[in-house]
Amino acid sequence: MNIRRLVDLNIKDKKVFIRSDLNVPIQDGKITSHKRILASIPTIEFALQKGASVMVASHLGRPEEGKYDSNYSLKPVVDFFKNHLKYPTHLVSDWVNSPFDTSPGQLFILENCRFNIGEKHNDEVLAKKYASLTDIFVMDAFGTAHRKEASTYGIAQYADIACAGILFLAELEALEKALLDPLRPMIAIVGGVKISSKLTILDTLSDKVDQLIVGGGIANTFIKAMDLDIGNSKYEKDLVPVAKKIIDKLKKRGALLPKISDVVCGKKFDANETAVTKNIKDVDKDDMIFDLGRESLGEIVKCIQNAKTIIWNGPIGLFEFDQFAKGTEIMTNAIANSVAFSLAGGGDTIAAIEKFNVAKDISYISTAGGAFLEFVEGKKLPAIEILERRF
Ligand code: 3PG
Repeated sequence: MNIRRLVDLNIKDKKVFIRSDLNVPIQDGKITSHKRILASIPTIEFALQKGASVMVASHLGRPEEGKYDSNYSLKPVVDFFKNHLKYPTHLVSDWVNSPFDTSPGQLFILENCRFNIGEKHNDEVLAKKYASLTDIFVMDAFGTAHRKEASTYGIAQYADIACAGILFLAELEALEKALLDPLRPMIAIVGGVKISSKLTILDTLSDKVDQLIVGGGIANTFIKAMDLDIGNSKYEKDLVPVAKKIIDKLKKRGALLPKISDVVCGKKFDANETAVTKNIKDVDKDDMIFDLGRESLGEIVKCIQNAKTIIWNGPIGLFEFDQFAKGTEIMTNAIANSVAFSLAGGGDTIAAIEKFNVAKDISYISTAGGAFLEFVEGKKLPAIEILERRF
């Protein structure tokens, strides 16, 4: 990997600007998942321990540029750091236009970089301004590696030194291990609601994997493409031909799509709806498929047990409602019990991992959503491109 690494640099008494992804969910001023903050700490602590003056920038949500909005302030994140790190921590509000002092062994969190005019569009003047604040730029926000913004890309162009942090490299290593030289059989599980948002990933994976498991709303479109009736289930009609092409491609390569024999249906999308298991051939006109049945899952579990590499993005059923969560639970436990290298990514996937409490049994859980998908799709992520160029 031709990327300079923070851990190889002498950073004592240097000014270090770390771009983390501290974009965490916040409800009523409270952080509801600390995963991304916790994942960012090793790089931040490393820089502090080595005696650097540490600035950390991040976005939070998608605020309007040029306007401070307390709903998007990093203050709750700063409060978390204050309670969990032994280093003095400060929030710097206006860090672009007002000079501020830093000192070694102290942490300076820079207020949401998306308040700055020009951040999103990677404005050159702004990126140069960011670069002038630091001796070393550290890209650690793998979750934002697919964005070409002033704090993720522009600053890396103009800083004297640009390198990658500990989290960024760990994410990259896990993705490369799963995708570039995978142990076989390699399987991918792609679930979620809409096939359209996962079309490229499905297409790319169908060229690579030995078995592709589709779940959730995506499975409905595939079942339809196999000329089976899905009743009143949601699916994407115009994408049925695409699903057919993917199925043909898999068949030609001798790759498998596990057979779906039974499904779990309800009549309406409701938390109290009764779940009824049916043979796929008996689905009624007013049925909606919300999960896979035990027989179908048996096939899927067999695939998981044989696999040496598992890439997992998205749940297999409507796991938010307990009566339709069994499929996702059985599949999640099978992945957790497997000896394969398992790589999981995406918001829903992490929610399923948390619900079934298997985090410690998954080989690597990515903090990235969109960046994870774009990497799996085979796209070159801008942050990787610029770090390689600066090497
Ligand atoms: C994410 O949540 O996927 C990253 O933090 C990127 O956020 P964005 O989609 O708002 O750029």
